[in-house]
Amino acid sequence: MIEAARTTGREPTAPSVPRPAAPAEGIPAPRRVTADLTGVPETALWTLRHRAAEAARPDTVLPDPRAVRLAARLDFPEQGTVRPWLAQGIALRALAFDEVVRAFLTDHPDGTVVALGEGLETQFWRVDNGRVRWVTVDLPEPLALRGRVLPHGDRQRLVACDARDDRWTAGIDPARGVLVTAQGLLMYLEPAAATRLIGVCAAAFPGGAMVFDTVSRRFSARTRRGGKGLVGRRMPPMPWGMDTAERPLLREIHPAIGEVSALPLPAGRGLLGRLAPRLTAVPLVRNDCPLLTRLRFAPAPVPAPDRSRRSG
Ligand SMILES: C[S@@+](CC[C@H](N)C(=O)[O-])C[C@H]1O[C@@H](n2cnc3c(N)ncnc32)[C@H](O)[C@@H]1O
Repeated sequence: MIEAARTTGREPTAPSVPRPAAPAEGIPAPRRVTADLTGVPETALWTLRHRAAEAARPDTVLPDPRAVRLAARLDFPEQGTVRPWLAQGIALRALAFDEVVRAFLTDHPDGTVVALGEGLETQFWRVDNGRVRWVTVDLPEPLALRGRVLPHGDRQRLVACDARDDRWTAGIDPARGVLVTAQGLLMYLEPAAATRLIGVCAAAFPGGAMVFDTVSRRFSARTRRGGKGLVGRRMPPMPWGMDTAERPLLREIHPAIGEVSALPLPAGRGLLGRLAPRLTAVPLVRNDCPLLTRLRFAPAPVPAPDRSRRSG
């Protein structure tokens, strides 16, 4: 059953970074929150920590004070050290998604963004144009944590639903334009479930678009064997992997998928940052790179005029 919740309210008082500031006299200290997610939802804490660490730098590629304040307020489970190069990589991925959302909002200022598996992403506050409607879809536990620690407003809706359950599509009007984002989600689904979800979006949102990232087949296989990830920790299995050569096949998932585009990472800082937009062209790493893909869906066919009602 889908629980839909819309929360309004004031932003919780936020501590300064990196440690909570001592509260002024008479003002109660903001309550710290234990972020005790496990399994795949725990990965939302990992990505938040990395984006926040990057955002806290004076030369950051992803200004995001809200993520910094949020991360400072949470007590995280032990997740290892944040590596600056990886933090920048995660932030560049978020920035690539931001660019797609901003371009969508330029064309559809009153459109709807549906963020599947949004976890503790603070993208809404990075890209908000004051008009967008925003739907966050995630599993009940991470969604409840999100609802507690972020100040959602009237244009935001939280939907506790497994993305594999089509009921999250209910109540989303495709008329003003819909962009579905799936940042860091599809790799955690079985291949059939991931491709089915793409087909469900193509059918539900005519004229819309979808943007998502994927890991390579080799990386996916490594996680399924229980291998350690980039930071020396075991990662939850990522059953769906896709290589660059397979990307054009995405069009075969559903007849409404009209355009399949590769999106490069934006350029960042230092050597890695300069290489980021070209990683998928570098021979030794091209088949290990995460890929970003945007799909555009065909508009609904215009119904033919009903000639049978013409008087003769
Ligand atoms: C790696 S985190 C990404 C979070 C966020 N998009 C980001 O980039 O920081 C994966 C997210 O997908 C969510 N998730 C995993 N499986 C899901 C499913 N079947 N349906 C909905 N959300 C799911 C997790 O709860 C988590 O929030």
